[in-house]
Amino acid sequence: MSFARSLRCRQCKREYPLEPLFVCEFCFGSLEVVYDYKAISQNLTRESIAAGPKNIWRYRALLPVEDEPINMDAGFTPLFHAHNLGRALGLERIYIKNDCMNPTWSFKDRVVAVAASKAREFGFQAVACASTGNLANSVSAHAARAGMRAFIFVPHDLEQGKILGSAIYGPTLVAVRGNYDQVNRLCSELAERFPWAFVNINIRPYYAEGSKTLAYEVAEQLGWQAPDAVVVPVASGSLLTKVWKGMHELSQLGIIGKVGSRLFAGQAQGCSPVATAFETGKPVRPVKPDTIAKSLAIGNPADGFFVLNILQECGGRAVAVSDDEIVDGMKLLAETEGVFAETAGGVTVASLKRLAAQGTIKPDELTVAIITASGLKTIEAVQEKVAPPITVDPTVASFEQEVGERAFWTPPLKDTGRTDRG
Ligand SMILES: Cc1ncc(COP(=O)(O)O)c(C=O)c1O
Ligand SMILES: [Zn+2]
Repeated sequence: MSFARSLRCRQCKREYPLEPLFVCEFCFGSLEVVYDYKAISQNLTRESIAAGPKNIWRYRALLPVEDEPINMDAGFTPLFHAHNLGRALGLERIYIKNDCMNPTWSFKDRVVAVAASKAREFGFQAVACASTGNLANSVSAHAARAGMRAFIFVPHDLEQGKILGSAIYGPTLVAVRGNYDQVNRLCSELAERFPWAFVNINIRPYYAEGSKTLAYEVAEQLGWQAPDAVVVPVASGSLLTKVWKGMHELSQLGIIGKVGSRLFAGQAQGCSPVATAFETGKPVRPVKPDTIAKSLAIGNPADGFFVLNILQECGGRAVAVSDDEIVDGMKLLAETEGVFAETAGGVTVASLKRLAAQGTIKPDELTVAIITASGLKTIEAVQEKVAPPITVDPTVASFEQEVGERAFWTPPLKDTGRTDRG
């Protein structure tokens, strides 16, 4: 049983029934799920949430799924106080939300769990997507688990980890000679011809709701409060808008207090339509992406307009970081906290570093950096940038000769041992 009541146009506010619809017939605005918050507030408490399963379905009252969901245990990923990274950046209260720890190692499992469940509910036998890689992995895996067919469309030049990370689940995997925006356009046309649930096209309103669970978890893991600052990597912009919506829903329901969070959008310089619009004060203009952060390489972001509105409303900002900064960000996170994130995580950390250095994020602000996917998916981005192994013969003499002084190395940073939430 769900408390979702209708779909509503985000522009003209016209209402639509809860069907596989995604665009307003009158103004072509995108549609969003609307809930009966009064009924939710009578059914949902901190205690009832805490008694739920340790995955996104503990927040099921705030998701648009009626039937038994497809459950691969997405969500409830670790949030930890990143003391070492904080020391490196001069931030005392920086927390990492580690969404690498999902079934297919990215936050996309949150959105796909909701979308695939809804697709099955609507009677679709096949799920599909246009993807920059992570979504492809997750749709492929969820389809396998649910016994549905999967049609996966990706740009042809993706990283091997992303290709293999879909292919292994046995979908129909299509590499399109073009960039993501061209893949997306093709899929919009295919969605009109084939009876498939394109999770991020024709059932996008339901799909997008899954990202709210990131905000719910952060609030719950911080002891039921919204952070002061959140750094979010932005491609289409959907994730950032839903982190915002999720925090405000909890506040509206009285589950947390007032939300005073500032949100910060991280983009790669080589694909920064939102950051450029933020800087220039002009509307989002599409760009042709050229960056190692392929997961964020969306030149025409569907939710860019809404991201800008949120940044304005909360006093946040958008940041664009170079490919070198992205690699440095990936290495910094790995070397300080033992978290190997993909390029999008590099964007988050590099953006955080910039914002801390500028004094935009203050040392004592309760800050959450959202790390959205695992680095094993984008090995190409860093394989030339890390020290190769030292090859030795299987003898002590050879070891001593090749390793030499390095055998006596001690770590520069000592963890305080506090990996708790305090
Ligand atoms: C790892 C990763 N992080 C962040 C994002 C950004 O998500 P959104 O398109 O909702 O802005 C994506 C999108 O594909 C992604 O793959
Ligand atoms: Zn409309």
